[in-house]
Amino acid sequence: MTTNLIIYYSRKGQNYVNGSIIDLPKGNTKIAAEFIQNSVGSDMFEIETVKDYATDYYDCIDEARNELRAKARPQLKNYLDNIDAYENIFICGPCWWGTFPMPVFSQLERLNWLNKKIMPLMTHEGSGLGVCERDLKKICSGAIFSKGLAVHGADVSKSESIIADWAKKSFDR
Ligand SMILES: Cc1cc2nc3c(=O)[nH]c(=O)nc-3n(C[C@H](O)[C@H](O)[C@H](O)COP(=O)(O)O)c2cc1C
Repeated sequence: MTTNLIIYYSRKGQNYVNGSIIDLPKGNTKIAAEFIQNSVGSDMFEIETVKDYATDYYDCIDEARNELRAKARPQLKNYLDNIDAYENIFICGPCWWGTFPMPVFSQLERLNWLNKKIMPLMTHEGSGLGVCERDLKKICSGAIFSKGLAVHGADVSKSESIIADWAKKSFDR
């Protein structure tokens, strides 16, 4: 039985990629999460909101900014009650205004992080990891942090070896 878990959020559909609006059939972070799973073996939990974000990219940008300002905790379809069975938790999501989307925190806040190892991965369009590590440290108290990985969203599908290498090494650092 694996002691690895991937918790991820990803929004397929309209997104901003290399200066244009593109309709993504599968979200960038979901692709990255699958690469992690293929390389190290892991259970997987997808964070899904009860209320969908706007399909339109610019409307979604506004919704996300409002949620960040309000420190919103959107309701999720399902919650993980605990992570007792796991030692290593990959937390993966897109960069939304410099940090993870608020629904990621809706889930993370409910868990006991004492002595769990966190490996953060963020996909982005230029902000890198933003302030996600700072925000995770605030919310996941007692966790041990491994080095995070930022992946340019437009490059995710050709980054399997980079993501797999990072995932394998992250257990030891
Ligand atoms: C609401 C919203 C806010 C975003 N904010 C940022 C940002 O602040 N910095 C950045 O580099 N990219 C930003 N992006 C781009 C996404 O982080 C990037 O396209 C990511 O790979 C999307 O992952 P996903 O397909 O898994 O949702 C934003 C995208 C959306 C939809």
